Amino acid sequence: MKFISVVLTVFLAVSINKSFGQDELFPPVGSCGITNIEPKESTRIVNGIAATPHSFPWQCLLVGFFTNGTAKHYCGCSIISPRHILTAAHCVVDMKNDPDNVRIYPGLHYFSASTLIKDNGLPCREIFVHGSYAASSLNNDVAVLRLKTAVQIDYEKTAPICYPLATNADAVKVNEEVIATGWGSMSGSPNRTSAHRPTELMQVRLKHVPNSQTDCKKLTSILGFIDQPAKMCAYGEWKSVCFGDSGGPLIRKRTTNGGQTYYEQVGIMSGTIDCSFTKPMPDIYANVRYLSKFITDSVKKSP
Ligand SMILES: *[C@@H]1O[C@H](CO)[C@@H](O)[C@H](O)[C@H]1NC(C)=O
Ligand SMILES: *[C@@H]1O[C@H](CO)[C@@H](O)[C@H](O)[C@H]1NC(C)=O
Repeated sequence: MKFISVVLTVFLAVSINKSFGQDELFPPVGSCGITNIEPKESTRIVNGIAATPHSFPWQCLLVGFFTNGTAKHYCGCSIISPRHILTAAHCVVDMKNDPDNVRIYPGLHYFSASTLIKDNGLPCREIFVHGSYAASSLNNDVAVLRLKTAVQIDYEKTAPICYPLATNADAVKVNEEVIATGWGSMSGSPNRTSAHRPTELMQVRLKHVPNSQTDCKKLTSILGFIDQPAKMCAYGEWKSVCFGDSGGPLIRKRTTNGGQTYYEQVGIMSGTIDCSFTKPMPDIYANVRYLSKFITDSVKKSP
């Protein structure tokens, strides 16, 4: 079995090199959404649990730096192709014209202050923020980053997540299980000092709830949102994402007709109000499927 999986890895690594720089913008199913290490199953633990290292190889960390090299803020992100990273607009909008100071850390599991060294991160070449992104309502909260140099995809620590267009995906169903991952605050406090951050990547299993659901509606109105199709809600009882998880992927597991399982990104962590867990509330994500035209166009502009 082990031998087979090694062969498969090599095969995929070769096939993905072949498919890029040619006509395919995104890795097709078979080259994306694959993890060598199966993520942990559902749990009932409050606030999510530490992920098995590298079971979400598309997850990356995004750090914005001041010119003097001090970290300014951080977010989650995901690898959608070797040269393209998906994140939330609100994570990069203030640094749109300063791509070199936005650094991407792929293949990471442990997180500490020493992680935030500028030279260790991959610099961006271009930052595409959705033209109708609205900071006040977090509508269209999506950005695509074009890296200066490609991420080394090894299908162990790094792999691209499937992008819905590559899989011709149908919309997420109500109550369908989705998984959010990130290094966000665990205390419910927006304090970004290390005392409040997890040291490992955390995962939480949630359910998709419709925008019309009462708690989702309440949340959107508290945040000054209206029910906008570029947003979607996910909910877990006493589970939530939090500050610093922003920009990270919300994914679901799918199966091809041939029985192959893979993961596909459905949302981008955008807003939350109750990560202090005082009462269960859903979180808001940018709806990747709805925003796919912007994502595809950005990749086409800078393949
Ligand atoms: C770097 O610059 C920022 C913003 O000007 C400042 O807040 C920070 O203290 C500086 N860090 C160092 C080490 O000089
Ligand atoms: C953040 O947490 C650190 C360490 O616990 C503390 O020293 C600091 O005062 C806190 N900052 C804010 C703004 O609460």
